[in-house]
Amino acid sequence: MIKPYKHNKNDPEPRNTRYVDKWDYKHVRMPCSPKNIKRDGTPRWPIICFELTKLQSLCEIKSVKAKDIQNAIERCTGRDWEIRCLEYLLDHIYSEDDKNHFLFTVLPNIIRLVLNVDNICGQPPPLLKIGSNQTVTMSQLQCASLLSCAFFCLFPRRQEQHGTEYERYQNPNFNTMFFGSRHGPSSTKLEKLRSLLHYFTRITELMPVGVLSFSRYCLPENGIPDWNKSKNTMCKLHLTKNKSIEDMHGFIQVDFANEYIGGGVMDNGCVQEEIRFIIYPEMLISLLLCEVMADRECISFIGCERFSSYKGYSTTYEWNGTYNDTTSRDNWGRRLCHVVAIDAIRFSDPREQWKEKWCRRELLKAYAGFRVSDMEKHILNGNIVGIATGNWGCGAFRGDKQLKALIQLMAASQAERPLIYCTRSDSNFLNKFGLLYDCLTRNNVEVNDLFKYLIEYSNGVRDKDLFDHILLKVPVIQ
Ligand code: AR6
Repeated sequence: MIKPYKHNKNDPEPRNTRYVDKWDYKHVRMPCSPKNIKRDGTPRWPIICFELTKLQSLCEIKSVKAKDIQNAIERCTGRDWEIRCLEYLLDHIYSEDDKNHFLFTVLPNIIRLVLNVDNICGQPPPLLKIGSNQTVTMSQLQCASLLSCAFFCLFPRRQEQHGTEYERYQNPNFNTMFFGSRHGPSSTKLEKLRSLLHYFTRITELMPVGVLSFSRYCLPENGIPDWNKSKNTMCKLHLTKNKSIEDMHGFIQVDFANEYIGGGVMDNGCVQEEIRFIIYPEMLISLLLCEVMADRECISFIGCERFSSYKGYSTTYEWNGTYNDTTSRDNWGRRLCHVVAIDAIRFSDPREQWKEKWCRRELLKAYAGFRVSDMEKHILNGNIVGIATGNWGCGAFRGDKQLKALIQLMAASQAERPLIYCTRSDSNFLNKFGLLYDCLTRNNVEVNDLFKYLIEYSNGVRDKDLFDHILLKVPVIQ
């Protein structure tokens, strides 16, 4: 049993040594690096410090405006930026009090976190590159400091994406989040930005003292299951309606991810993954760290804290006030919240998904996310945590619900993990899934049987739905 974490004053503080720079392709290129230079060779960090200190003085004398933030970002980065979305939020959505609180109290704190990023972080975090099995652990304070740098768009080289060092990474800077078209920013983006500013407000009131881990895992070649031969029977399955994955505490929660982690979170995207990142903003650090995911990879997060409530979805998304996360912490200080990001394939022609190669790919991806690590086996003494998932790949990515449900059931059974399947409505689908599952367990169907039925179906005429096809195939034990 993992003991809940209690912060106490005798805990060792992070070592406050001098910043040790690493300016290479293995580490995040930090704004405070002496090698962060302009084209003419002038170092940027002194410019950033000068401009942000100037902005801080404007905050102190209470005469700062949104335009000043734009000017500061432009001078720090040497580029023209447009921050209509931020301006609109401050001038038209916030009350006068909220606006003043942001500009005179929260903004100076964001600036302080940027100006101290070298001391707070001590060194640049390593990048989580394709093929690596690596974990980066940092404090919530370090996350806050890095996100503050992203707020001022300070991470170098992250804008230019094509044909450059970072072409296979997301841009963690807030410039696209701030951007609003000439016709005004979309309400979704405004509500997303409002949620993010709420995070900065909360950490200004009280800096959280916990820790987070970001990990990348790549299933080794010899770890790929042979689906044709797997004798595993069905894992435990619980179907639930009107529930959101993020509310399934005590389970590993699935992020319906994009191969570029976070998907459209910094832009207009606002479905499961983006909402997750907006209400748990520390997850945005993965945009800074993670290279695009390959087929056999997943990214996981331990310790993320939720800061916002929300209502609506996609174009109706709205920030719905603060969220007081009371999830207990492990003995490292990480909230007992574990999210695993797996990216389904986006099918522009949904017929494609039935091809065997795509079925295999999705099985592999789900299995990479669900498999039980040796560490987990060891720590939990056989009490394997279940996976909370749902219609993975079946919204923006246009997958078939029955196919994806079956694939996830097979992957979880292979991994020998219980599965909790949550949807917000979908009663008919859940009933059918329940019927199928009863039939599979009653008749001791194994993963290899399901694989055969699936491949048969995908190569066949498909004149009935997948679940009906399997129900007809399963030999009934008398
Ligand atoms: N809990 C349970 N089910 C949910 C939740 C939730 N919180 N949110 C949505 N659903 P989608 P995808 C259901 O479209 O198809 C992003 O841009 C809901 O029924 O987010 O894998 C990523 O960055 C929804 O239709 O996942 C990727 O680019 C379904 O889950 C892309 O979308 C699928 O949610 C991934 O698209």
